[in-house]
Amino acid sequence: MERHEISRIAHRDHPVAAPLSDESVRELLERLLRGRSDGRLLDLGCGEAPWLVRALAAHPALRAVGVDTDPAALRTALHTAQRLGVARRIGLHHRDVREFSTAEPFDAVLCVGATHAFGGLGPALAAIGPLLAPGGAVLLGESYWEREPPARARELLGEGLTGLAGTLAAVEAAGWLPVAGHTSTRAELDAYEWSWTGSLTDWALDQPPGPDREAALHAAAEHRREWLDAYRDCFGFVTLLLRPGSRAGAG
Ligand SMILES: C[S@@+](CC[C@H](N)C(=O)[O-])C[C@H]1O[C@@H](n2cnc3c(N)ncnc32)[C@H](O)[C@@H]1O
Repeated sequence: MERHEISRIAHRDHPVAAPLSDESVRELLERLLRGRSDGRLLDLGCGEAPWLVRALAAHPALRAVGVDTDPAALRTALHTAQRLGVARRIGLHHRDVREFSTAEPFDAVLCVGATHAFGGLGPALAAIGPLLAPGGAVLLGESYWEREPPARARELLGEGLTGLAGTLAAVEAAGWLPVAGHTSTRAELDAYEWSWTGSLTDWALDQPPGPDREAALHAAAEHRREWLDAYRDCFGFVTLLLRPGSRAGAG
């Protein structure tokens, strides 16, 4: 099974592909769209676009664009948008986020759990600046180390992460200012991992014996082991509402 497919199944019972509760997603979206709900919203690395379809369903004058390299996730996004009656207000682009550009900047930009697609936080913020209209805001979801990680956690989750203070220092050094923030609670972090491993196991147990079932069971067990052994006690996730300061510049 391809990694994309495993990830899609693993995320199917969770509100978004990040450690945030339903309530947190709702509150963060409302905050991002306050005063911008009749504008245009862009999601870079949108996956199945759970943030976008939810925002469109709640705000009838909002229009949205999602960009992702996973065609199956984009197909699911379109089906969900059709089911919710918002498909005419969403554009879904099968494209590398690094190649996305626009002639009409966006009022709000989401990049949650996807800064790695740009090569990290700094390059992601540098790419987002020109896509944002004056007065716009960015909702950025980023991993960080809650405490010093063991070597195995660094191997699994990337060498580029820092502590929360380091993450905020990088944001400010890039010329952005946080106007709100949410650090995922231990309950949100745990719920995400239980959902990831549990959904995959549940799916596998409904499959006939064969390689897909074995691959899914193996991936779930390995993920659970790595979470519990390597990073449960040091991993954190922060979602920041950012506006450009004087140097980040909007489009
Ligand atoms: C952890 S998921 C987050 C999805 C979504 N933002 C959410 O919160 O539910 C990361 C997404 O980034 C996408 N991605 C990774 N590299 C990418 C790239 N270079 N260009 C576009 N999308 C990319 C993946 O396909 C995946 O859907």
